[in-house]
Amino acid sequence: MSDAKQKQVYISDLAAHEGRSVTMRGWLHNRRSSGRLQFLTFRDGTGFMQAVVSKADVSEDAWKATKALTHESSLELTGTVRKDERAPGGYELTVTGVEVYQIAEEYPITPKEHGVNFLLDRRHLWLRSKRQHAILRIRSEVINAARRYLDDRGFACSDTPIFTPNACEGTTTLFETQYFDDKAYLSQSGQLYNEAIAMAVGKTYCFGPTFRAEKSKTRRHLIEFWMIEPEVAFHELDDTIELAENLISAVIESVLEHRRPELEVLERDVSKLESVKTPFHRMSYDEAAKKLEDKGTDFVLGDDFGAQDETALAEDLDRPLVVTGYPTNIKAFYMQPEEDRPDRVLCVDILAPEGYGEIVGGGQRIHDLKLLEQRLKEHDLPEEAFGWYLDLRRYGSVPHSGFGMGIERLVSWICKLEHLREAIPFPRMLYRLSP
Ligand code: 4AD
Ligand code: MG
Repeated sequence: MSDAKQKQVYISDLAAHEGRSVTMRGWLHNRRSSGRLQFLTFRDGTGFMQAVVSKADVSEDAWKATKALTHESSLELTGTVRKDERAPGGYELTVTGVEVYQIAEEYPITPKEHGVNFLLDRRHLWLRSKRQHAILRIRSEVINAARRYLDDRGFACSDTPIFTPNACEGTTTLFETQYFDDKAYLSQSGQLYNEAIAMAVGKTYCFGPTFRAEKSKTRRHLIEFWMIEPEVAFHELDDTIELAENLISAVIESVLEHRRPELEVLERDVSKLESVKTPFHRMSYDEAAKKLEDKGTDFVLGDDFGAQDETALAEDLDRPLVVTGYPTNIKAFYMQPEEDRPDRVLCVDILAPEGYGEIVGGGQRIHDLKLLEQRLKEHDLPEEAFGWYLDLRRYGSVPHSGFGMGIERLVSWICKLEHLREAIPFPRMLYRLSP
């Protein structure tokens, strides 16, 4: 490498360097020779570009080094930035110098079709592909946009524990682990703690990994997934729905504004995202059940919607569908019942269009001490473990609401992925714990 290390210019910033000589560092994606010219497709983590090496412009050593470059070799290029309408990204590098960090061994991922298990076994390398790079960048944008939206509105980000002594979302999907001489469970949701924090700061959110021992092998379920969960004191169901709608549309707007090239790589039909405006479509559980009946599905009134039902309800819509008022007995213990219909709760699920299913789940929480005690009994949950949670209903209890938005579900829909496994760098699934 050169003695005095030159400042690195990134592909994403090339426009500001048109006509200038720059130093770039990255990896070789592809190389094509044509006599005295070599065409390199080069990537640096911010994008892909073409660099042209002409035998006439570089030293003999640099020319030889270029010819030895293999797929994924790491290198430093020096050259002049040229505007070129036909080039992907609009700029091209006319190379004057080439330095090699490492010549890569024969790369296992080739341009030919590979099976998904082959790729998942090499996830640490698969991430470098154009498609996976685009998804990683969009995921990052989704997370930043969601946090920015809440941060700008006075929410305190206050993270909740991963080791917990009790269940939040039912005992069947709990991950048990040893906690010295005790048992602990990996968090299924930060909600219960969030409720305590909301009573301290009014508006809060947590963002972190959550764990569900889901034995189902579907394209919509991960064992470890990331959730952003806002919780607000004095918010009732309608307030939380409005917050969720605004949050989702702000995230989509931000992806459309900042990640167009990545959406293009994914060949995403952006008109489907551009039509996502508030207010979303809205339906009660009972209306949704009726719609399924009319469609001739075998859905049974009183049941929870399965993946196929969710798809059937929202697939033909231009915006997400907000479903409220699910039956009390199929929802979590903490849900506030509807005032005039106690067999329905003040809950909300938001279903994405295009067959992506539930992206948000939440609602209004029980704030009455007696009712909450009764629910713990009905759900066979140990009152001792929930003593602190009941305290929130003893000392200045107020109506409050919140929701959880699954990052991978949202990314999956925005990117129109076939399976959630591509929406997270290293997916944890029923039969996969590595790499
Ligand atoms: O509907 P869920 O289970 O709701 C809760 O956990 C609430 N305690 C959240 C709250 O009110 N603070 O999960 C919320 C969201 C779902 O809508 C979905 O987007 C995502 O989390 N999700 C999953 N994502 C990937 N894999 C799984 N196994 C998921 N389970 C839920
Ligand atoms: Mg749910």
